[in-house]
Amino acid sequence: MAHETEKRNAAAAAMDFVEDGMTLGLGTGSTAKFFVEFLAEEIADGLVVRGVPTSEETRRLAESLGVPLVDIEQVDRIHLTVDGADEVDGQAQLIKGGGAALLREKIVANASDLMVVIADPSKQVEALGAFPLPVEVTPFGYTITAKKVYDALCQAGVLRPRIKVRTGPGNIPLRTDGGNYILDCDCGTIPDAPKAAAHLAHVPGVVEHGLFTHLCRVVIIGSEDGATIFEY
Ligand code: A5P
Repeated sequence: MAHETEKRNAAAAAMDFVEDGMTLGLGTGSTAKFFVEFLAEEIADGLVVRGVPTSEETRRLAESLGVPLVDIEQVDRIHLTVDGADEVDGQAQLIKGGGAALLREKIVANASDLMVVIADPSKQVEALGAFPLPVEVTPFGYTITAKKVYDALCQAGVLRPRIKVRTGPGNIPLRTDGGNYILDCDCGTIPDAPKAAAHLAHVPGVVEHGLFTHLCRVVIIGSEDGATIFEY
């Protein structure tokens, strides 16, 4: 796996934010996987926490490692969420959803007292947008929704975004954990992420989008021999 040590070191550094008794949002992806593995080791040594997974993939991983989980409907407080990102800029704005889990990731992050992002240095960008922005949409009317997403992004200053529905095995549209489709929107550059987020939020058929603004307050960038913590 590319950047494996950097991802692992970022995840290890995030363990410093974990305290006994916490309810934790468990992110999705290859970097978050390292965090769940570190957590499992600490739990085996006596740490008492419980997790809220942000995807079925993470649920299966946590269950296989013996991390106690709690149904999100039974939770009134999530103390900390640790998750990866596809891009992070200098204001802790993120693109997420490369693993198609953005809806649950955003619900859990938004419900958390603190969101900590763990990433390798390749995820750091000057401006968001080189990574295609995932937008989760309802299957009903998705071709119309795609046109409206195009318009919304243009109104937010994106130049000629290229939009594709994400496909899975058999070249049919991939279904998210919630049964929806993902539109991958190649924007090049997103000049104003909050503006793009606001425009996308108004498109009927858009369930959620992968722009995370005002959600993350700590970014941990792993390196070959440690990690750097940025607080916002
Ligand atoms: C999942 O939907 C994503 O938001 C991931 O958190 C993101 O793609 C980062 O994944 P990696 O840690 O595997 O790069």
